[in-house]
Amino acid sequence: MKVMILTGSNRKEATSTKMAEHAAHFINQQGEQVTLFNLHKRPLPFYSPDESYAEHEHLSALHQEMLTANAIILITPEYHGSMSGVMKNALDHLGQTHFNGKVVLSASSAGGAVGVSSLLQLQAVVRNLHGINTPDWISIGGMQRKRFEIEYDGYEGGQEIEDRIRLVLESFLNLARKINSPAGAAL
Ligand SMILES: Cc1cc2nc3c(=O)[nH]c(=O)nc-3n(C[C@H](O)[C@H](O)[C@H](O)COP(=O)(O)O)c2cc1C
Repeated sequence: MKVMILTGSNRKEATSTKMAEHAAHFINQQGEQVTLFNLHKRPLPFYSPDESYAEHEHLSALHQEMLTANAIILITPEYHGSMSGVMKNALDHLGQTHFNGKVVLSASSAGGAVGVSSLLQLQAVVRNLHGINTPDWISIGGMQRKRFEIEYDGYEGGQEIEDRIRLVLESFLNLARKINSPAGAAL
């Protein structure tokens, strides 16, 4: 199974991107293939319905990787009670062909205690694109972000966050494997 992780921060040392790298490592350890598409390193043009973007290198790669993914993880910073503009712009470039029938996990990093508004909005987009939202999601907020900061030095709450993320990823992978099994494909 191939899992695509799309990260929506435009910040070099973003905690959401570090969390994505952590998730990618865990999913690899579970024997699944992972592609991480970092929108900071591979910026996309502003979406316009008037343009075709057929020649755009990053967009072609994004389309190809999303099409071949069996399951998807969307990870965004919470900006003004929403997902980042960078993430929304990427999603505007995508459509039902990329999401239809695929299991999608949403995750966020927020300055406040939790970043639930951005998660609700990500799930609304996924629903509109006919993806299958997981019942769980991941939000790291406030002090919890220390676990994914560059200067992380093993502070005591770090293990608790890793455990929570592992549980959610396990449940995401279980659901995605079921949907991608021959019985799931027949549904
Ligand atoms: C423009 C902007 C808007 C933000 N709005 C919110 C917000 O509405 N709620 C919140 O909890 N944190 C907010 N924050 C804080 C970020 O969510 C927080 O710093 C987050 O960890 C950034 O993610 P990153 O480390 O992946 O860049 C905002 C930050 C910026 C730069």
